[in-house]
Formats: sequence, structure tokens, C-alpha cells
Amino acid sequence: MIEVRNLTKIYPNGTKGLDDVNVTIGDGEFICVIGLSGAGKSTFLRCINRLNDATSGQILVDGEDIAHAQGPKLRALRRRIGFVFQQFNLSTRLTAEENVLSGRLGYHNRFAGLLGLYTADDRQRAAEALRRVGLADKVSVRVDQLSGGQQQRVAIARAFAQNPTLILADEPMASLDPKLSNVIMGILKEFNKDGISVLVNIHVLELATQYADRILGFNKGRLVFDGPPSALTPSEIDRIYAGSVADL
Ligand SMILES: Nc1ncnc2c1ncn2[C@@H]1O[C@H](COP(=O)(O)OP(=O)(O)OP(=O)(O)O)[C@@H](O)[C@H]1O
Ligand SMILES: [Mg+2]
Repeated sequence: MIEVRNLTKIYPNGTKGLDDVNVTIGDGEFICVIGLSGAGKSTFLRCINRLNDATSGQILVDGEDIAHAQGPKLRALRRRIGFVFQQFNLSTRLTAEENVLSGRLGYHNRFAGLLGLYTADDRQRAAEALRRVGLADKVSVRVDQLSGGQQQRVAIARAFAQNPTLILADEPMASLDPKLSNVIMGILKEFNKDGISVLVNIHVLELATQYADRILGFNKGRLVFDGPPSALTPSEIDRIYAGSVADL
């Protein structure tokens, strides 16, 4: 369980990315995060796994404040949180398997990681992850020879290979043909059925309401909606999407 308390992020240039956000994320939830461009969706996800440091507030993971965790504690936290990026963030000159294996690095010391000293268990998990995303036949293929949709599936397999309790996905389908959105959301939903909590930033409202158990709506850094898709009335939608991108 993750408890976010009074979370505020002010960037060095003075921009407020998040403004006093309070939310509790339960185990096994499938949450979609919506809002205009610049609303704070990415900042929110990146604060949870500490790609961004919060300016103030607390992020309690199973009761422990991780907002200021360092060293081994931070490593242990990151190990259990998979992150899926819009631009995949793969090593394109390496194979699908090598990329997925890098999801296991958090379980080894840096030296073993540099030498690629993966265990049989790591390899088995990587193979399982690639099978789960439908890429069992691409294990040895270099990532730059895969389509965008396949590359994103490798990235999701990498997150799954971490044996995460939580997967954070920041607009994972935004760089892909819209037809692939359901494939990506379907895979995330399958992993969620295994008990992994999933938080997805998403632009397309219909996809969010179709897949999410719960929706978080951000507007100018503030959490302005928190509820099931069924509670997303037209006036709530207006509130979330109030203000133009140019105002931000
Ligand atoms: N590195 C940064 N430095 C300064 N300001 C930033 C930085 N990253 C984000 N911001 C600002 O913080 C606010 C929230 O940005 P964020 O990227 O979290 O929004 P978003 O909801 O993910 O938008 P998008 O839908 O375009 O991805 C915006 O005003 C943005 O300009
Ligand atoms: Mg974003």
C-alpha cells in the first residue's frame, strides 16, 4: 500500500508540478491517471519511484517514508516498482532477452550486473516475462529490429521481470499506433490480475474508463478527482480538463 501525503513538487525554475496531493493506493488496484498536458501526471508517477524528488510531503510504502530514502533502501524500493516509459527506454542494440534481464539488475550487485552474470532463475523469469507479453519467439532478436509495439512489450516484460508489486506506466501507448492501445492496456490488466498494482498515465479518456478500477484526475498539479469511472460525470470531466494547455 502506498500513502501519499501532502505531496508537493516545485521544479527549480519555480513551476509547481504537484500541489499538496493526498491519495492512498491499495494493493492490486488498476488506476488510470488523467489530466491535460502539464497537469502533473508524469511528475506524480516519477515522484513515486523517486525519478523525481518531491519538494515536500511524504510517500509511505507499507508505512515507511520513501520520499527521502537513499542507498540500499532506495534500491530496494526501485526493485519492486517497474516503470514503463512512453519512449520505451530500451537498449536498442541488445536483444529482447538482454533488455528484459536488465530488469533483474536490482537483485544483484553492480559488479555482477556489469558482467551480465545473471542466474538461471533470472533467465527463467525473463523467458516467462517475454512469453507473457507474446514475444516468446523474439527472445534473441535485437530490439532495433522490432516494431514499436513489440519494443513497448519488451519494456513491459522488463518491468514484470523485476517481480514488482507496482508497475508505473507513463503514457505507454502514446508513441504507438492507436490500434495498439488495447494490446498494451490488456497486457497491463493481465499483470494486474496477478496482484500487481498498476498506475497508468493516459491521455485517452475512453481507454481510462474502459480499463481502470479507479481514476485519478489532475489539474494544474492538484488532484481534483479520485473515484471509479462510473463517478466521472460530464461536470467532473469538465473540472479535470478545465483551463487550456496555454494557461499552464
Ligand atoms: N524538469 C522540469 N522542469 C521544470 N518544469 C517541469 C519539469 N518537468 C515538468 N515540469 C512542469 O511541471 C508541470 C507538470 O508537468 P508533467 O510533465 O508532470 O505533466 P503531465 O501531466 O505529465 O503532462 P503531459 O500530458 O504533457 O505528459 C508542467 O507545468 C511542466 O511544465
Ligand atoms: Mg507526462
